[in-house]
Amino acid sequence: MRIAVVGTGYVGLVSGVCFSDFGHEVICADKDPNKVAMLERGEVPIYEPGLDALMAKNIEAGRLTFTGDLKTAVAGADAVFIAVGTPTRRGDGHADLTFVMAAAKEIARAATDYVVIVTKSTVPVGTNRKVHQVVAEANPDLDFDVASNPEFLREGAAIDDFMKPDRVVVGVENDRASAVMSSIYRPLYLRDFPILVTDLESAEMIKYAANAFLATKITFINEIAALCEKTGADVKQVSRGMGLDGRIGNKFLHAGPGYGGSCFPKDTSALARIGQEHASPMRITETVMEVNEDIKRRMIQKLRDLCGGSFNGKTVAVLGVTFKPDTDDMRDSPALTIVPALVGGGANVRVTDPQGLREGKDLLPGVDWVADAYDAAKGADLLVILTQWNEFRALDLPRVAASMSVARMADLRNIYSAESVRDAGFAAYDSIGSVGFVI
Ligand SMILES: NC(=O)c1ccc[n+]([C@@H]2O[C@H](COP(=O)([O-])OP(=O)(O)OC[C@H]3O[C@@H](n4cnc5c(N)ncnc54)[C@H](O)[C@@H]3O)[C@@H](O)[C@H]2O)c1
Repeated sequence: MRIAVVGTGYVGLVSGVCFSDFGHEVICADKDPNKVAMLERGEVPIYEPGLDALMAKNIEAGRLTFTGDLKTAVAGADAVFIAVGTPTRRGDGHADLTFVMAAAKEIARAATDYVVIVTKSTVPVGTNRKVHQVVAEANPDLDFDVASNPEFLREGAAIDDFMKPDRVVVGVENDRASAVMSSIYRPLYLRDFPILVTDLESAEMIKYAANAFLATKITFINEIAALCEKTGADVKQVSRGMGLDGRIGNKFLHAGPGYGGSCFPKDTSALARIGQEHASPMRITETVMEVNEDIKRRMIQKLRDLCGGSFNGKTVAVLGVTFKPDTDDMRDSPALTIVPALVGGGANVRVTDPQGLREGKDLLPGVDWVADAYDAAKGADLLVILTQWNEFRALDLPRVAASMSVARMADLRNIYSAESVRDAGFAAYDSIGSVGFVI
């Protein structure tokens, strides 16, 4: 198959690279000339483990190319995947479809022969029908079908998720489009990965329902964590006890500083708006969004309490600012709420993150970036673990404690135990969902 991918962000680039690894001939287009120039030089513009090697392998094999010209990409393609951003629209919380519709129009004008236009971006129910309409209006003579193919990959594990998915969801209107999509995903079908072929609306809804459900699961355990702190229970034990129940499962059941990232905040918001528009309110999702905001505020209060009631004049070391480990993505990271509260409260904030600097330097003004956790901790009054990068999981805690002005730790990812922190010489410790200590 000849595949074009429009948009080379986290989803488009990973999809393009993986499709080429399936053996298809893939051309990826992006309107950002800097990105295209990097990709043409064989450089990966994002941090995603394993992506550079797989990309190099497929460029070398002659199956993967890049262009800034959408026309070149679309010419002769059997399928064109739209993988552009669908951020939250300013003002009303809905998904902003400007990029999707602009891409659809451009594809329509560039295509000449039968093509399946596949939306991989996360889009509200009804969008694929609108894409159909936009393409038909822009190029009335074009023979085409639309398909919905939402993506479920997680940043940090994107290649594995794409190559070994729990399922592939394909929404189509007819057998012709279904046949093209089956050929594209045949390598996965042959390895028995489930491929769910359904209608356009169901495919679109599956993506939002899945993300809202996962956001609910995280928020549920975060709310239980707050109650654990009041009652003396330990949320780590509670998660384990719950997760061993096969009906519940242990994934997305770890308490933390609130969900963030490029998907859950915007997708819950869009689902809530879709519900409002159809007079079918998504009350659970709306509550989850509110509770998640409260959780982030609760984190700030925790830090303030550890600092004795005020951040003013305190030196705070922040370990990790990306929304999760193994990505450089800062979109809606809890750090974007917590760090400005520290700076605004008068703290001197030192930040370290293995991949966060490039994105984070503009997003977090007024902080000092340092090389590692030990540099950050020197002379600090509080150490905050915000992202559970492996680098922060096995720190030499006695060394950290000894270097601090006052050895206090806020472990917002529950990676250490109160005992180990106390034994290392810390004077105070707080985590999520269990009782900390102050000596
Ligand atoms: N990031 C994730 O983990 C993830 C997971 C599943 C689904 N999704 C969904 O996938 C979609 C893309 O997300 P992302 O994180 O990859 O976005 P992104 O912002 O990282 O990348 C989007 C890219 O599209 C390019 N672009 C925009 N309009 C274009 C056009 N007309 N022609 C060519 N290029 C264009 C931009 O320059 C950018 O490089 C979103 O709808 C998102 O919700 C994301």
